[in-house]
Amino acid sequence: MNSIDAHEWSRLASVIGLLADGTHHSGEELGEHLGISRAAVWKYIKRLEELGLQLESVKGKGYCLSDPIELLDEKIIDQLLDTEVKNALNKISIFPEIESTNGFLLTQSDINYHLCLAERQTAGRGRRGRVWVSPFASNIYFSLGWKSVSGVSALKGLSLLVGCAVIRALRKAGLQKPGLKWPNDILADEKKLAGILVEIRGDLAGECELVIGIGLNYRMQVAEDAIGQPWIDLHQLACVEGVDLPSRNQLIAILLNQLLPMLMTYEQLGFESYQREWESCHSHQGKQVELLMGNSRLMGICLGVDQEGALILRDANNQLHHLHGGEVSLRLQQ
Ligand code: BTN
Repeated sequence: MNSIDAHEWSRLASVIGLLADGTHHSGEELGEHLGISRAAVWKYIKRLEELGLQLESVKGKGYCLSDPIELLDEKIIDQLLDTEVKNALNKISIFPEIESTNGFLLTQSDINYHLCLAERQTAGRGRRGRVWVSPFASNIYFSLGWKSVSGVSALKGLSLLVGCAVIRALRKAGLQKPGLKWPNDILADEKKLAGILVEIRGDLAGECELVIGIGLNYRMQVAEDAIGQPWIDLHQLACVEGVDLPSRNQLIAILLNQLLPMLMTYEQLGFESYQREWESCHSHQGKQVELLMGNSRLMGICLGVDQEGALILRDANNQLHHLHGGEVSLRLQQ
């Protein structure tokens, strides 16, 4: 698919803005608003469809977005931030399209509290070298730069802390079902709702910079099997839980209001302050699981996490194992 350039984006954003009210608009009306021909309107409508948006076209009435959307908007996010968060956040960069929001921040200098968001990622990164499927205007692709003076060993458990922040934000949004899967997945009904990828640059023993990447399925409009694992989105969950789902911009602000204060005190408090909170949201707490580490397999009961965020597993011989992240994958034993 061709990439979106700045000129095309300003037109596409205007068309989406006009169609966002959920009513039909004729090609003529859209053309008048944008100062372009009906043929050009048609071209932009086709492009939106190519990007994955679902549009209805009714003869005599015009075009309508099947699901009205609100594009990412710095002003809306900024208005909803708590004062201490607003003061701490240094910069917000929003892209209609980017390879990876994590990747972008890793190329920038001075990324502390720089937030990068995108409508679409063309090479979204998941954990363990996987691709994070990132369709246009349907989900949240969020990366936050953060500088640490303590070195990575003091940051064990950071990605688990981010999981706690995501759960706190979802609870604030009224959603009770999501839970955590070690080390840093957010699940609902055993299906993936969000993933966290923390990437690091700099001196691992001293001052280093981290990029905290969060991918949150908001309203995923892709084929069920386009993603290599069972997934769920907030829209489905909100329907089940009978909740009025906040917009993506609102949710991003809620998440920042939770995450930033936790990061600001993390180096003094450490993960141990969040250990119990993490366990209280743990989907597999006390359950029998199977861990795959390369070719070896370990089965046991999940007892929780230790002060460093390592998973504590008790095997059939009553032996305790403390497992750290990396190339470990975990699944519930049937
Ligand atoms: C996982 O595999 O569970 C982690 C997925 C992390 C995806 C997010 S989306 C925003 C940020 N940019 C990326 O390229 N990846 C992370």
